[in-house]
Amino acid sequence: MNKPNLAVNIGGVDMQNPVTTASGTFGFGPEYSRYIDINELGAVVVKGTTLHPREGNATPRIVETPSGILNSIGLQNPGVDYVIEHYVPYFKTLRVPVIVNISGDTVEDYAKVAEKLDAAGGIAGLEVNISCPNVKKGGMAFGSDPAMAAEVTAAVKSAAKLPVVVKLSPNVTDITAVAEAVAEAGADGLSLINTLLGMAIDINSRRPILGSVMGGLSGPAVKPVAVRAVWQVYKAVQLPIIGMGGISTAEDALEFILAGASAVAVGTANFVNPRATMDIIAGIERYLIDNGVKDVNELVGAAHGN
Ligand code: SIN
Repeated sequence: MNKPNLAVNIGGVDMQNPVTTASGTFGFGPEYSRYIDINELGAVVVKGTTLHPREGNATPRIVETPSGILNSIGLQNPGVDYVIEHYVPYFKTLRVPVIVNISGDTVEDYAKVAEKLDAAGGIAGLEVNISCPNVKKGGMAFGSDPAMAAEVTAAVKSAAKLPVVVKLSPNVTDITAVAEAVAEAGADGLSLINTLLGMAIDINSRRPILGSVMGGLSGPAVKPVAVRAVWQVYKAVQLPIIGMGGISTAEDALEFILAGASAVAVGTANFVNPRATMDIIAGIERYLIDNGVKDVNELVGAAHGN
């Protein structure tokens, strides 16, 4: 069999294969370039960027859990102007699309960051983070209210011409209500899921371990929740989905694709195996060849049986 087609399109972002990185697990890209050839990825999604630099939350900010980690980073980042000055020149050297994850305390913050990145060039799309569980303002507070989620989406859409992918929170009763609201507001794609709100307690000190008490759970433990969310959102809206949540192997990635994801993002697995993305791309291709599938797009949502 000839090489199968691995190329996918997420709301206007052309990817040579369906595998990208989950924001916050891959720095701004160069951090991983001694482990993998970044140009072999489908796309790179970089760390969340805000209008002003942020130092992040009090430490400790990471706790290992069975089959996962809790993080409460708090969107530590150098701010959009620094990203434009120091990282956009690097983005421009890449042959794969770079998607910048953006966050804000207010709707206006999101719009200003989007406008600056749009003007900078070298960026293929924006991932609007309305789902960070580790900040007091913005983040999950926006993503758990369909009306606020729509307002942020519309503001970013009018501030930037770039494709806009909105990152959804699993910490809601009905993820499809938020998906429908942001689709209506003009989103070009969706990414899901962000982390699940959790916490851990040190039984010796009898205190919460994380400096900010609660954090977001990621890793293999969350995969069934994420697959379920992709399944529901695929049925509810007609937007391309980047699926994520505990993807460590090609088999995991294929589950998300069959549930309805057109692309997948690898997150926590990067910390365990910095070459996980490469192994997953190769494994997806192997599966297509072994099963006589000519185009990965044929598998998107195939588990729904239509
Ligand atoms: C963080 O920086 O706290 C994590 C980002 C996120 O969960 O969206």
